[in-house]
Amino acid sequence: MAEQHQQGKAVQTTGHAWDGDLQEFNNPLPRWWLWSFYATAVFALIYWIWYPAWPIADSFTKGIGSVTFERNGEEVTTHWNTRAELIEEMQRGSETLKQQAYLEKVAAASYDEIVNDADMMAFTRSLGKVLFADNCAACHGVGGMPAQIGQFPNLIDDAWLWGGEFEQIQQTIVGGRNGFMPAFGEVLDDRQVDQLAHYVLSLSGGNVDADKAAAGRILFQGQEGGCHYCHTASGKGLESQGAANLTDAIWTVADVPGATDDRGRIDAVRKVIANGVQRQMPGWSERLDPTQIKLLSIYVQSLGG
Ligand code: HEC
Ligand code: HEC
Repeated sequence: MAEQHQQGKAVQTTGHAWDGDLQEFNNPLPRWWLWSFYATAVFALIYWIWYPAWPIADSFTKGIGSVTFERNGEEVTTHWNTRAELIEEMQRGSETLKQQAYLEKVAAASYDEIVNDADMMAFTRSLGKVLFADNCAACHGVGGMPAQIGQFPNLIDDAWLWGGEFEQIQQTIVGGRNGFMPAFGEVLDDRQVDQLAHYVLSLSGGNVDADKAAAGRILFQGQEGGCHYCHTASGKGLESQGAANLTDAIWTVADVPGATDDRGRIDAVRKVIANGVQRQMPGWSERLDPTQIKLLSIYVQSLGG
């Protein structure tokens, strides 16, 4: 104690002494430290009020902060959370602005301008891919190739039932298509159907019985079969009817590639002639806007080689 007095008021201690001379200073906290401490307390308080913070039963304090974003064309405001903030950022962020600008550019551009512009084409492909996955892949397969021949046409080969020009593909998507061929199993007998199948396969260079193919040709080109009305005399098909080209060895309904031998290939074609075809492509004019359909048309066309 005596020593402390000698040092004057310079150093205060708590007044306790251990082991004889071990004392504890009682210095005031440094100012910067104290203010930092208050600041963190104030920060925590604001944080709790603004953001979701404390658990209460099976919920939590939501905070008064909010995020506003767009969902299905309507503005939605929700309490602050990272998911909503991400959505908001994606909608207003610079990427979106870029995308928005490109969309407007593509909407205003002609088909020729788009396909001849590398940037617009890259944009069309990337957005087309997303639109295709969302709307079309359920039927046409991811990337445009269905798992099986028959139900849905393959869009990545360069054979088009309804035409591969931009306007034709656009029309297919806008209005949908009705692929129809009558069932001939009721009007022709098995022998005739067999002869027709031989003729049809001969058109694409298949290995067939020449006599049967010759008989099938007469049916195909004549009144009785009437196949030429839709498939034309050359067998190349008619886009206005969606009638398949039978000469290109590309099969959209008859599972000829799935057959292992000549007999199997004949049977696959017989089946289609006997049963006919009824396939429907839905129209999209109510579900997609004109720019999306434009993008998709160009994307789908680019799939087909
Ligand atoms: C419900 C199933 C289904 C969905 C979904 C669907 N399609 Fe189709 N699509 C079909 C069928 C079936 C056909 C064949 C019609 C026919 O036989 O003539 C077809 C035909 C087409 C054709 C014509 C092919 C040709 O050879 O001419 C195009 C192009 C096409 N679809 C694009 C699309 C696009 C793009 C979408 C998405 C916006 C889409 N389809 C969604 C079932 C579907
Ligand atoms: C009313 C028009 C019409 C007539 C008549 C018609 N077809 Fe078709 N045919 C079609 C259409 C349309 C398709 C394609 C259907 C689709 O893919 O949606 C088709 C598809 C086919 C296919 C399948 C081709 C493939 O790529 O898988 C064969 C084979 C065929 N027709 C043979 C015949 C034969 C043989 C006759 C005569 C007995 C005939 N068609 C008469 C409209 C017709």
